[in-house]
Amino acid sequence: MKLLLKNAAEIVTFTGNTAKKGNEMSKPLVIKNGCILTNNEKIEAVFPMSEISHFNTANAEIIDCTGKTVTSGFIDCHTHFIFGGYREEEFNDRLNGMSYMEIMKRGGGIVNTVNKTRNATTDELFSEGKKRLQKYLEYGVTTIEGKSGYGLDIDTELKQLGVMSELNNAQPVEIIQTYMGAHATPKEFDSADSYIDFIIDKVLPAVKEKTKTEFCDVFCEKNVFDVTQSKRLLLSAKKLGLGLKMHAEEIVPLGGSGVACEIGAVSVEHLLHIDETNIAKLSKSDTIGVLLPATAFSLKEQYAPARKMIDSGCAVAVASDLNPGSCYTQSIPLVIALSCMYMGMTVDETLCALTLNAACAINRGENIGTLEKGKQADIIIHNVPSIKFLSYNFCVNHALTVIKKGQIVLNKI
Ligand code: NIG
Ligand code: FE
Repeated sequence: MKLLLKNAAEIVTFTGNTAKKGNEMSKPLVIKNGCILTNNEKIEAVFPMSEISHFNTANAEIIDCTGKTVTSGFIDCHTHFIFGGYREEEFNDRLNGMSYMEIMKRGGGIVNTVNKTRNATTDELFSEGKKRLQKYLEYGVTTIEGKSGYGLDIDTELKQLGVMSELNNAQPVEIIQTYMGAHATPKEFDSADSYIDFIIDKVLPAVKEKTKTEFCDVFCEKNVFDVTQSKRLLLSAKKLGLGLKMHAEEIVPLGGSGVACEIGAVSVEHLLHIDETNIAKLSKSDTIGVLLPATAFSLKEQYAPARKMIDSGCAVAVASDLNPGSCYTQSIPLVIALSCMYMGMTVDETLCALTLNAACAINRGENIGTLEKGKQADIIIHNVPSIKFLSYNFCVNHALTVIKKGQIVLNKI
């Protein structure tokens, strides 16, 4: 099966397999009057219309992209999209002035969702998860990362991860799994340390043996897991061959991000309160800073210092952080708007952060994230004449046609 996307007003893509750092994030390749030829799951060629005679386009299904902008499929590299129940009461308490941490202290927050997720059946988690993925697809998201962490016990964590595997086979959005049992200490344990011991001894080996999990994440935060506990857990996960991620400097800056860089984490996430020292460490490392502006928006907190981070040479990705508590949205148009208007990123940097850098934050830089020969054909046709409209016509979904592995999986024409 071949597709020929023809005559796009512009094709905008980054190139290569590794994350772009600093000012490299603002230098995409732009092909005016562009074409893309796919062959089964892969991209065969990307070229300007003037070179079309050099390629064998016979038998290709033609998609006219006149007046449209074409990019790589968006990658949401940080989500908690499998959970039971909702927390609309807590959200409205927050609107009335209660803080996220106050809600957590009164027994709400993550633990509230843990109870609901433990009680949810596999079928319920599957069908709710599938609806959320469909919404993502409508925004042009072709790959997401999904974290467990609403079970905390072995069975429910495995249930969450298992549902992600099933969903991966049941619909087009590709799912990369992360184990995040270290999201909170469950009531069965009297200390964070004893829970970390349990994870290391019992849960990590089960996750490794029974699931397709690729990463281990930890909520390094005041009153959750401190830097020493987070490091101990991640080093054990590393020995099992899992990639490392860390939620850090979200509410109180504990300095976890610098430690994550030292131990070779693939990414550190949130970073609302990252300081100069840790920005410098991040910029010198291969770790990617994953920024989640919709969470800052939802918590009414300050935004991560994206501009300073990029100017200091960091590699930055952006993601939705969809979860039932701090950020119940999968709106990529909102993420783009906040990145550009409140984090000081240009639309080119934001595109890099949602494609190549996001791919690298889930170790997929070799397969996805750019429009280049040999990469997976994950493509969005946006109903706008230039990439600049993604920031300009803000909070509007412009994804018109979405292609995943060379198949049209969404078409609004
Ligand atoms: O990324 N920070 C920790 N985890 C989530 C929130 C989870 C929840 O409130 O349910 C986050 O913001
Ligand atoms: Fe998160």
